[in-house]
Amino acid sequence: MGRLLSSEPQNEDESFVSIRPLSLDEYIGQENVKERLSVAIRAAKMRGEVLDHVLLAGPPGLGKTTLATIIAHETGGKLHTTSGPVIERQGDLAAVLTSLASGDVLFIDEIHRLPHAVEEVLYSAMEDYKLDILVGKGPGARTVRLSVNPFTLVGATTRSGLLTPPLRNRFGMVLELDFYKIEELKNIVKRSAKILGVKIDNTCASEIAKRSRGTPRVANRLLKRIRDFATVKSKDEITLEIVDEAFESMKIDKYGLDETDRKILKRIAHDYRGGPVGLNSLAASVGMEAETISEVYEPYLLQGGFVARTSRGRVLTAKGYSAIGESLISTENFEFGSDS
Ligand code: ADE
Repeated sequence: MGRLLSSEPQNEDESFVSIRPLSLDEYIGQENVKERLSVAIRAAKMRGEVLDHVLLAGPPGLGKTTLATIIAHETGGKLHTTSGPVIERQGDLAAVLTSLASGDVLFIDEIHRLPHAVEEVLYSAMEDYKLDILVGKGPGARTVRLSVNPFTLVGATTRSGLLTPPLRNRFGMVLELDFYKIEELKNIVKRSAKILGVKIDNTCASEIAKRSRGTPRVANRLLKRIRDFATVKSKDEITLEIVDEAFESMKIDKYGLDETDRKILKRIAHDYRGGPVGLNSLAASVGMEAETISEVYEPYLLQGGFVARTSRGRVLTAKGYSAIGESLISTENFEFGSDS
């Protein structure tokens, strides 16, 4: 079972587990998601039922795991965490589901990556807490029906469009997470700094927020790295000077773009004259997996207006050119004969 489940949420940065909010009240941002969850949790409690299954969708780092943790705390269920690619066989899913107590919360990260045969078994488990498992092979094979305790499935996906309709339709709530506003990120930074025991004023918290790509995970990571700069100077306070020095050292620009983002923008500008370029060609140019570009880097490049998507592929915008210190109307682009 150790391979399939972990009782603590997986976290790339273990020391941040303690700064995760544990209640909806402490959670900053995503107001509509919070309101819908709060009503559903209170209603389920009042009726003495388990919470309906919840699908959380959105780019990485926006708080899907945090929300799963909060759902378990608020409903009083134990949280069990696993992920789509880890559940390889129907038997794996059966082992996980039969270990749940009534009211427990099962968090399946990257749920769009569940193998098809496993996904099919999940349907009846979600609908009526029954599992139909095929036992044996060939003519002697038979189906065994197992009961599982009523539970809440919290599924997370970076792209809800990747989910098959039958799976998506079995979630009572589909919650799409959005990038955070600067003000919300500023408040997250201030809250995290307080928990980490480092002083920070509004100006510095704002500077970090502006470079956090709309993402709390990035905001918290930047805060920790900047705190390192303060620590080595024996300061218990983050100052603007420290913030500037840290960003310069991390090569993060005023938009929050790092070297990888700029590499992507430069490849579009130089190898494809600003685009349009298809995802796979771009991935080959940059030397990265297409999926990493589309799921990790591109959402923020699109939302920040550095890149635009057209029917023929990605194109660099004027802001995209400016982020790499170039101009949209460069001599190279004149070759296209634009006389406007
Ligand atoms: N830490 C990470 N995400 C957070 C959020 N949305 N609110 C408060 N703290 C957070």
